[in-house]
Amino acid sequence: MTKYSRIIGWGKYAPEQILTNQDLEKMVDTSDEWILTRTGIRERRIAAPEETTATMSVQAARAALDKAQLRPTDLDLIIVATSSPDHFLPAVSSTIQDMLGAKEVGAFTLTAGCTGFVYGLATAHQFIASGTYENVLVIGAELISRFVDWEDRSTCVLFGDGAGAVVLTASEMPGGVLSFVLGSDGSLGDALIVPSIGCKEPISQKVLDERTHYIRMDGRRVLKFAIRIMSKAAVEAVKASGLSLSDIDLLIPHQANLRIIELTRRHLGLPEDKVFINVDRYGNTSAASIPIAFCEAIEEGRVNEGDNLVMVGFGGGLTWAATVVHMGVLETLPRLVAWRFVPVGSLSLEEMKVIARATMDSLVFKASALLLPLYTKTGLRRRRK
Ligand code: UT7
Repeated sequence: MTKYSRIIGWGKYAPEQILTNQDLEKMVDTSDEWILTRTGIRERRIAAPEETTATMSVQAARAALDKAQLRPTDLDLIIVATSSPDHFLPAVSSTIQDMLGAKEVGAFTLTAGCTGFVYGLATAHQFIASGTYENVLVIGAELISRFVDWEDRSTCVLFGDGAGAVVLTASEMPGGVLSFVLGSDGSLGDALIVPSIGCKEPISQKVLDERTHYIRMDGRRVLKFAIRIMSKAAVEAVKASGLSLSDIDLLIPHQANLRIIELTRRHLGLPEDKVFINVDRYGNTSAASIPIAFCEAIEEGRVNEGDNLVMVGFGGGLTWAATVVHMGVLETLPRLVAWRFVPVGSLSLEEMKVIARATMDSLVFKASALLLPLYTKTGLRRRRK
């Protein structure tokens, strides 16, 4: 039986060190005014020397598991989206599985640039919808500051470090991930690339001298692509979900550039209060940007019970991805998924009301599944008469 995959836990991690535009003015030939008007970024987070993609991911994952009231040993699968893993081998997903203290479950890393998190969500959804797994952890994490050329002003001002994670669980109640759209156009691959240190051009003195082990980007080409693809992907995902744009309560776009976000919002005809923006505080955290934004949107009270969200992104590849997620009762106060393990005395009135609504929904859903065949039969009988 096809199951629904509901997001019942979320968490984020942002390194403590803040790098402002004013700090960057002292490092390269740039200005706060240029960065702000071209990108909307004011500051970004930079990981401390001892931090890695794995350590940041584990922080975000622990927060997500706490919210979900699950233990790492409850996980059936771990998916990590990143373009800045700790090593080429082993996969950072295995390091994370070990650091979390999860069972020896499947863990893999996927690379789809900044859209990796939505690719991960879509993949997790498949494993849940097919009935294969119950609880899947999806992480989007980047320590991109170590792949940025701090002498190249056209890229170093854009990126930041961070991690975001969600826990998806199998549910019989409709909701959660409703649809997704994935795409790639590899013919544009060189527009956003780390030219060397892969098998095509292994590390060498020449590579180090020419600094081709760092990110190179043709910003204009990526910008043009993003403006074209973001609204298109969002519209396709909404259509695939069976909803219409007027049903969307919040757009959570990849936080790369305020101008791209603004244009996407206008193309979709959404009012300003239906778009979540935090690019000013984090810059572009690549695969971590959508899950961090998702967490902050919830923390800021921008996501409510019953809301339909669109997450949409573009990135290296070039790739794009969009998904529509319905946030139901379970998602809104996720710790109550495990309410049977919580002593009733420790619950607030609001939490008890949510339990009541969740139980009611569940009963109605179960009852409707039982009653529907009866209803259809009697309906048919009546029509035949
Ligand atoms: O997750 C996907 C990641 N990639 C993206 O999101 C990139 C998408 N592209 C963009 O966001 C924009 O193209 C940028 C923000 C990168 C650049 O904005 P733009 O309006 O496309 O500027 P531009 O490329 O036309 O550059 C204008 C000028 C150039 O100078 P000249 O040749 O006109 O004299 C650049 O050299 O700005 C110069 N410039 C800078 N000036 C001050 C480039 N970087 C800087 C800088 N500070 N940091």
